[in-house]
Amino acid sequence: MALVTTKEMFQKAYAGGYAIGAFNVNNMEIIQGITEAAKEENSPVILQVSAGARKYAKHVYLTKLVEAALLDTDLPIALHLDHGDDFEICKSCIDGGFSSVMIDGSKHTFEDNIALTKKVVEYAHAHGCVVEGELGKLAGVEDDVNVSAADASYTRPEEVEEFVTRTGVDSLAIAIGTSHGAFKFKPGQKPQLRFDILEEVAKRLPNFPIVLHGASSVSQEYVKLIQQYGGQMEDAIGIPEDMLRQAAGMAVCKINIDSDLRLAFTAGIREYIANNPSHFDPRQYLTPSRNNIKALVKHKIVNVLGSSGAAK
Ligand code: G3H
Ligand code: 13P
Ligand code: ZN
Repeated sequence: MALVTTKEMFQKAYAGGYAIGAFNVNNMEIIQGITEAAKEENSPVILQVSAGARKYAKHVYLTKLVEAALLDTDLPIALHLDHGDDFEICKSCIDGGFSSVMIDGSKHTFEDNIALTKKVVEYAHAHGCVVEGELGKLAGVEDDVNVSAADASYTRPEEVEEFVTRTGVDSLAIAIGTSHGAFKFKPGQKPQLRFDILEEVAKRLPNFPIVLHGASSVSQEYVKLIQQYGGQMEDAIGIPEDMLRQAAGMAVCKINIDSDLRLAFTAGIREYIANNPSHFDPRQYLTPSRNNIKALVKHKIVNVLGSSGAAK
C-alpha cells in the first residue's frame, strides 16, 4: 500500500468515535515498534516527524524507513510533518513525499497565522497533501521553543470557524490544557482538560477533525524504571488515559504521542544495560526498547485511541 492522507482516516474516526495515534519517529526501532503494533491491531497509524527529528535522521532515511514499513505491514499509514513553523519546511516535506503537514502558526497573530496557513494549504492541496493548523498555544518544550505555562493560552472557540474557512485547513489542533513534554502537571495537582472548549469547537465545526497535541500519559512504570536504573528524572505526570478516551469519542481524531515513546525507549535501554553491564552490542539493548514501543502502542490503540480493527 502507498502512503495515505489523513482525510479518509479522520472521516471514519469521527463517525466511529475513535482517534488515530500520531506517533513521533526518528529511528528504525521506533518505526518498527509502532507499525508492528498497528499491524497486530489492524489499526491505521500516523507517523510524524518534527524538524528536529528530520535534522537528526535526515529526510531520506525517514521516508525510506516509512516506505519499508508500508511494504512490511500493508497498513494505511500517513507520514506527517509535526510543527512545521514556516512555509519552506512544509514545502520541502510536501515535495519530499509526505502525505500531511502541520503548519504551526500559533505563535503569530491571528491574521498572520491565517496568511501563513493559507499559503501552505494552497501549495499542499495542489500537490495532494493535507494540512493541520493550530489555534491556541500549548505549554511545554518542542525543539528550541519553550512556552511557559504563563504564555500558554486556550483556543478561543469564537475564532475557529473564521480560521478554518479562510485557511482551508483539513484539521485543527486546539489547546484545552494538554502540554508538551513529560512534566505536564505538578505532583499533587489534579489533571484537568477544558472539555467545554472542545465541545464548543465541535459545535461550531460540525464533522471537522480536531487534533490533540501534548497527549502523552507518562506511564509511571517507565518513569519508575528510569529512576530505578540510574536516570535522573523528577516524578512526572501526564494526561490521564480516560480523558484521552473521552476526547477520542468527541471531535478529536488525532492524538499526538512522543514523550511516552521516549520514556518507553529509554527505560528499555537503561534496564537492559543495568542488568547486563558486560554487553555492548546495540542490537541487544535496542531490542527491549523496540519491544517497549510495540507494547506501548498496542496499549494506546486498544485502551486509549479505540482504533483497533479500523484499517480496512
Ligand atoms: O511536539 C513536539 C514533539 O514532541 C517533537 O519534539 O521537536 O524535540 O522532536 P522535538
Ligand atoms: P507529548 O510530549 O505529550 O508526547 O506530545 C507530543 C506532541 O504533541 C507532538 O506534536
Ligand atoms: Zn505537538
